[in-house]
Amino acid sequence: MGKKIFSGVQPTGNLHLGNYLGAIKNFVKLNNEDQNDCIFCIVDLHAITVAQDPKKLKDNIYETAATFIASGIDPKKSIIFNQSSVSAHSEAAWILSCVARMGWLNRMTQFKEKAGKDKEKASIGLYSYPVLMAADILLYDTSHVPVGDDQKQHLELCRDIAQKFNNDFNVDDFFKIPEPLIQKKFSRIMSLRDGTKKMSKSELSDLSRINLTDDKDQIINKIKKAKTDILQLPATSADLEKRPEAKNLMSIYSSITDVNLDDTINKFSGKNFSEFKENLSEVLIDEINPISNEIKKLLKEKSFLDQILDSGRQKADKIASEKLKKIQEIMGF
Ligand code: TYM
Repeated sequence: MGKKIFSGVQPTGNLHLGNYLGAIKNFVKLNNEDQNDCIFCIVDLHAITVAQDPKKLKDNIYETAATFIASGIDPKKSIIFNQSSVSAHSEAAWILSCVARMGWLNRMTQFKEKAGKDKEKASIGLYSYPVLMAADILLYDTSHVPVGDDQKQHLELCRDIAQKFNNDFNVDDFFKIPEPLIQKKFSRIMSLRDGTKKMSKSELSDLSRINLTDDKDQIINKIKKAKTDILQLPATSADLEKRPEAKNLMSIYSSITDVNLDDTINKFSGKNFSEFKENLSEVLIDEINPISNEIKKLLKEKSFLDQILDSGRQKADKIASEKLKKIQEIMGF
């Protein structure tokens, strides 16, 4: 039987290699398996949990849609839509926020990281963000959720919320319990400036990430400047383990070329970083360049993107509003 896939990406600009290798590349693979039903959502309601400039948000929504399509998601086969255009997401999120427990949300490490020291000033939305994520997933009877490693805890919360709702209202199997699809090896791409920190959209230095809109020269420059150590490349994975920057760059190479890490280690063992970096830039350019060119092209065709988002909205709305109606009946509304 095919899988019911749902995943989301925030339209907050600077979509990068981490988003691509951790999530979007997997979306494309799942989209290409005939038997799956896939829904890919631009989660603009999640984006506003931190301040957004409305004009930029709108541009970023288009850019995210363009990135999905440019990466190879076929809008004829998969549903691509904007979260805020389907009101059931917000409505279900409220209901589920009455099911989720404070104690569960208090454990979310991403909130702690994002809110930082000044928790009092974080928005309530930033705190309850995983509940909205649960609504996204559960409205579509999702069986599998492809995400990067950083979303694992949110997915566990989603499963807990679904289970509690099913128990509290005595409706066995009403909410399907979704499975995470997290790639085993390359689910956490690290910053090019610090191999112990996640590659992220919000990192100040653009040199820390490869953006999916970067051109050839930017990629070469960023890889050249990527932090390394003074040693030659190692001969074993045990040696690589102690060297976060080398491990990250070799993992990126492996992930892009679809070869396992041990083969990459064998190929470059004893070589200098400069030689390895040339090879890495080459494979990155081969993969990213066609995508970035296509993104730029699609961004000039806003009406085409509008059509795709509108057709996605109609299909998503039909599924989500039917599920919401059933939720409301269960609640006694
Ligand atoms: P977001 O927008 O932060 O990231 C989108 C996807 O990219 C993955 N990712 C990474 N993977 C590997 N290495 C990295 N450095 C890296 N950085 C980001 C993320 O794990 C994610 O899969 N809450 C979600 C969006 C969301 C969602 C959902 C996802 C909202 N509703 C429902 C799944 C299902 C988020 O903020 O992702």
